[in-house]
Amino acid sequence: MAGNSFGQAFRITTAGESHGPGNVVIIDGCPSGIALSVDDLLFDLNRRRPGQSHLVTQRQESDVPEILAGVFEGRTTGTSLAILIRNEDQRSRDYNEIKDKYRPGHADYTYDAKYGFRDYRGGGRASARETVARVAAGVVAKKLIAEAFGGKVVGYVKQVGPIVARVDDPERVTLADVEAFPDGTPNLVRCPDRERAQEMIELIESVRKDQDSIGGVSEIVASNVPVGLGEPVFDKLKADLAKALFSLPAVLGVEYGVGFACATQRGSEHNDEFVAEESGTGVRRVVTRSNRHGGMLGGISSGMPIVLRAAIKPTSSLSREQRTVTNTGEGAIIRTKGRHDPCLLPRFVPIGEAMVAIVLADHYLRFRALRPA
Ligand SMILES: Cc1cc2nc3c(=O)[nH]c(=O)nc-3n(C[C@H](O)[C@H](O)[C@H](O)COP(=O)(O)O)c2cc1C
Repeated sequence: MAGNSFGQAFRITTAGESHGPGNVVIIDGCPSGIALSVDDLLFDLNRRRPGQSHLVTQRQESDVPEILAGVFEGRTTGTSLAILIRNEDQRSRDYNEIKDKYRPGHADYTYDAKYGFRDYRGGGRASARETVARVAAGVVAKKLIAEAFGGKVVGYVKQVGPIVARVDDPERVTLADVEAFPDGTPNLVRCPDRERAQEMIELIESVRKDQDSIGGVSEIVASNVPVGLGEPVFDKLKADLAKALFSLPAVLGVEYGVGFACATQRGSEHNDEFVAEESGTGVRRVVTRSNRHGGMLGGISSGMPIVLRAAIKPTSSLSREQRTVTNTGEGAIIRTKGRHDPCLLPRFVPIGEAMVAIVLADHYLRFRALRPA
């Protein structure tokens, strides 16, 4: 009934709120023998961490995880794996003034209407703080798919407001490109197009000065995915990836390959031509010359890179005044004092990657279970 678990063969269950003691994930179905340490988890947790640059929320969380179960002598045991990330820098008083007011664009009203009782501190369970647990699980999933089929998931910021990055070959963007520029300067906005990245930074700084926020698009690419992942008809890979991404806060759109642009194309322009390619082992591999389909056909991975984009809305909490109502229906003015990201995109990247990796890990294990011996 409740919606705190995701996946079948690789299944994550999370609990935790923004201002509670911490966030925890239990991962069931992770095979034994995968090397896993706190340092492995820290890499992506640091990419998601608040306070990582002046462009994001200044909440200070060290986000050092504790592996509570499922790892012995540095390797997964195959039993349930539990990871805890404690909350450290809650400033719940920031929310006292607005506890009876509904933030426009946020989940305050719907949580109140549904449960009649709400942890208003920092948005409670609706806060993106819960995604810290998903990122930890995503690290495990990334390791699993890397070991199983050389799978890689790399996300980046494709668009902030009207500024769109030029990325000619999404499959070639590396994690290194996303995290730093060739001269070693940190890529604060996680956009591989340096010129556009600078424009994005300027835009984010200017909306912050205006006490406003801005939306954008993240593109995520999964490569080396074997052909055959996805279970028709309800658990098609495209359906499960969409659910994974739409389960994230602030995602208002998901598209694959050419996405919504397919609406104006003719079949002759859209269809990707098949070709047979000699592989190293002399076996012929079927590939497509182009990848407008985004790596899935019939909801089953085609062996081409999976290319998807998620549209992320502007942060709803603003320190400028907005009109709203209280929980008793009185008109009110709201200003949100907490520390908020003026643009969610730079921190969204590792979170989106984590959900994609979790889906691929789950579908890989399901694919393996269903394969004829
Ligand atoms: C990384 C990340 C950080 C977020 N931080 C904030 C924030 O500081 N303030 C805020 O109002 N919303 C923030 N959000 C978005 C809200 O959590 C989200 O808009 C809210 O829960 C309502 O859900 P919905 O947008 O999916 O409808 C964040 C989202 C993400 C992905």
